[in-house]
Amino acid sequence: MIDVQRLRSDFPMLHGKKMQGCDLIYFDNAATTFKPQAVRAAVDYYYTDITCNAHRGDYDLSYTVDQAYEGTRERVARFLHAQTNEIVFTSGTSESLNLVAQGYGRKFLHEGDIVLSSESEHASCVLPWMKVCEERKAALSFIPLDPSGHIDMDSFRAQMSDRVKVIALAMITNVLGYEAPIQEICAMAHSYGAVVVVDGAQSVPHMPIDVRKLDCDFLAFSAHKMCGPTGTGVLYGKYALLDAMDPLHLGGGSNARYDMCGNIRLKNPPFKFESGTPNIEGVLGLRAAIDYLDAVGMANIHAYELELHHYIVKELLKMNHIIVYNPDAQSAIITFNVKDVFAQDAATFFNANGIAVRSGQHCAKLLIDRLNTSATIRASLYFYNTKAEADRFLAVCAQANMQSCLDVYF
Ligand code: ALA
Repeated sequence: MIDVQRLRSDFPMLHGKKMQGCDLIYFDNAATTFKPQAVRAAVDYYYTDITCNAHRGDYDLSYTVDQAYEGTRERVARFLHAQTNEIVFTSGTSESLNLVAQGYGRKFLHEGDIVLSSESEHASCVLPWMKVCEERKAALSFIPLDPSGHIDMDSFRAQMSDRVKVIALAMITNVLGYEAPIQEICAMAHSYGAVVVVDGAQSVPHMPIDVRKLDCDFLAFSAHKMCGPTGTGVLYGKYALLDAMDPLHLGGGSNARYDMCGNIRLKNPPFKFESGTPNIEGVLGLRAAIDYLDAVGMANIHAYELELHHYIVKELLKMNHIIVYNPDAQSAIITFNVKDVFAQDAATFFNANGIAVRSGQHCAKLLIDRLNTSATIRASLYFYNTKAEADRFLAVCAQANMQSCLDVYF
């Protein structure tokens, strides 16, 4: 059970904030989330009390920072049921996914190989592979979606062959919010010797994740979508794969030695991937975010969000002028349109009523043709949203039409 009112008191952004003179309702949590006081305190602690670099000093202060930084790696590993040396800190999901494409794909893909993705993916899960496939003369193919927008597992099974070397998919997609059966996909992929790269940006913040159980090979996610700071992310990778692949960047901190003949000996994973001064405050903030989420309980968060999601969707489906694109999503994402109103105009109407939603193509540009529309509105929830907010959102949805949306401009 979640005591939402008590939790809301931890978030400064949930107090007294107005938008267009109305109490702010923030339903854009798939884009980024608010930060609890504990995360701000962790970042502040670094700047106020323990500022110095990590992994570079032989003095007490530096040792304190090293402990905090490496302690976070252990904490992330525990959160995901991984080993500590399988956790790489990055700037976010996009960098993590690019790291796999460049570090693994560029090294191990060959002419004629196939990378499989899907039409509903975020650009960060597709474009890095498009680039690497072009370079390596491999093919990027897409698993079709079934009429409801879920991955068509029969087509997936039919597409699998020894030529498929990588499968890159979101566990929960950022527009339709549908969950891919990752465990089943991994089992199938492994039987053909392929690796599975999971975009966890929309799943890790919302539900318990066990990488051992999923048996995924890589998992990428961002701190800022789970109450943590921006500019910080994680790549989980099975150790043997991390060991085999190349880093995205070279520089200080990642090498054991190098000489003037060009010989470079890199450190072992995860350190070989972390050149340069890391985002120390971001990593310490991520730890505070994970501690916070775990105290709330990831299973509680998931259950609460589903309840709120189902309530909103049930009510939206009663409104004839609202088109819901993902009515059966088991996630915090609701994607819809107001009939005959351009999504951005409708989002402006929501803004005029103090409600923050995202509109457009949501960085998933292959999906839009499939949905037969040029843009959609996305309301995305988190555990600090309330039923009262849902009711106000529904009341605004009820009033949204061509005239009310146009009136905002005049
Ligand atoms: N990837 C984020 C989203 O889907 C920004 O909104």
